[in-house]
Amino acid sequence: MKVLIVYGSETGNTESLAEALGEQISAAGHTVKVLNAADASAEGLCTGYDAVLFGCSAWGTDEVELQGDFNALFEEFDSIDIKGKKAACFASGDSSFEHYCGAVDVIEDRLGSLGATLMEEGLRVEGDYSGNKDDVDAWGQKIIAAL
Ligand SMILES: Cc1cc2nc3c(=O)[nH]c(=O)nc-3n(C[C@H](O)[C@H](O)[C@H](O)COP(=O)(O)O)c2cc1C
Repeated sequence: MKVLIVYGSETGNTESLAEALGEQISAAGHTVKVLNAADASAEGLCTGYDAVLFGCSAWGTDEVELQGDFNALFEEFDSIDIKGKKAACFASGDSSFEHYCGAVDVIEDRLGSLGATLMEEGLRVEGDYSGNKDDVDAWGQKIIAAL
């Protein structure tokens, strides 16, 4: 399978999840591209891929604000060509905030309305990969099983 992992990360936490998931999924024999949202453009983003994972941290206080680079992409999500494809979301967050890893909910909602098939409930992680290896690896295994 061809898998795209696109992430937005301010301080590197979500990036560490994206990199770890990319290594895990490619070690399982799939072709994986890990792409920073800062380097991505929306038009046809998912064309040619069988499955896409979206990772994004949340900012803002009263309501969820998607990480800046990802938000720019999200504003043009209509054109990413995700309809009928497998997708899943992941995020790093801080559970002291009301909307813990709130980007997962926002992106999952939008993916649903765009006609993507969600493979798994979104992954929510406190901090980076190093403190959450077991949870991230277990989620990655579920994604591999669902590809
Ligand atoms: C002003 C501000 C608002 C934040 N809002 C949220 C939030 O709503 N939900 C959450 O889970 N984390 C929130 N965070 C924490 C970051 O999302 C968290 O540190 C995350 O790990 C950063 O990931 P990144 O390095 O990939 O950007 C906030 C942090 C700040 C400074």
